[in-house]
Amino acid sequence: MSTVLVTGGTGFIGSHTVIALDKSGFDVVIADNLSNSKTEVLKRLHTICGKDFRFYKADCCKREELEPVFRENKIDAVIHFAGLKAVGESVSKPLEYYSNNINSLLTLVGLMKDYKVDELVFSSSATVYGESEDVPFTEESPLGMCTNPYGWTKWMQEQMLRDFSKAYPEFKIALLRYFNPVGAHESGLLGEDPRGIPNNLFPYISKVAGGTLEKLTIFGGDYDTEDGTCLRDYIHVMDLAEGHVKAINYLATNDTGINVFNLGTGKGTSVLEAVRAFEKACGHEINKEIGPRRPGDIAVSYASTEKAEKLLGFKATRTVEEMCSSCWNWQTKNPDGLPDDN
Ligand code: WQD
Repeated sequence: MSTVLVTGGTGFIGSHTVIALDKSGFDVVIADNLSNSKTEVLKRLHTICGKDFRFYKADCCKREELEPVFRENKIDAVIHFAGLKAVGESVSKPLEYYSNNINSLLTLVGLMKDYKVDELVFSSSATVYGESEDVPFTEESPLGMCTNPYGWTKWMQEQMLRDFSKAYPEFKIALLRYFNPVGAHESGLLGEDPRGIPNNLFPYISKVAGGTLEKLTIFGGDYDTEDGTCLRDYIHVMDLAEGHVKAINYLATNDTGINVFNLGTGKGTSVLEAVRAFEKACGHEINKEIGPRRPGDIAVSYASTEKAEKLLGFKATRTVEEMCSSCWNWQTKNPDGLPDDN
């Protein structure tokens, strides 16, 4: 049985990917510094998967903390989620973002090289595409027009891995560019659990629907779109998780070098359409108002999904309605999110 190390494995996408890996018969080891997640996630994973996962509390920037994972386990492949990922926060804390996201990848890849672990799936983001009229974004769309330090760290990490792949062609790397991951596991035991006031749309709507936040402000109603609000490619987190399993299988069976894949649905959904879908899921109106545009937002972003379909055999199946209903199920079962670590 192949063993996959999931860094950031107690995070939102990481924990859902652990479930998908386990379901596909992989042995999973989790490393996370718990800076933006809680050990309660491990208990929820035990309930969902019926087993404990080897867990290392480790900061991926610190070789002395991460090396025991490689020394004590025979790792066959790594999925690297660990990193800071809040767009707004990255604008106010650029040094933390560059230091953490760049150094964690450098430390991880150095250990992979030393321990001859040569399969890496890297968590990248559609923010590397930046603003463009030319949508849907394909993997060949122009890069590097990022609008925030978080996006720049993803762009830099991709470049580091491209250069590493040239120097060490035996390494097999899949760069996965996520669009907008939303939703929750069907059990309602796991979901998006941001600390403090959510930056992202779905967790914000969810808390307004649940009454823990008063009103949703829709950032801009005057974009050049059908209803004036921004379009995004929302993808269910379990579809995204299953896409990672497809990428791991692809690396195991192809001498691929480095390859980039969009993980999205190929469909743009407006903010108003998402709100209406959520109102259907929760059964009541969401208190909302249209406010000014949010700096850094782009009007339209959605994926061309052809390459992932063709090479990975990946196609997202869950609808926006299912994203909303799973979000609402998570919200109603966990109105205050996961309990804090004591
Ligand atoms: C979506 C739409 C907002 C909140 C970000 C990151 C991206 C990725 C996904 C990691 C936009 C509008 C939002 C609110 C609103 N994360 N909105 N009111 O900005 O598309 O992408 O998350 O990889 O890197 O950039 O997602 O959910 O913040 O916004 O109207 O209270 O919802 O203006 O149009 P975004 P988002």
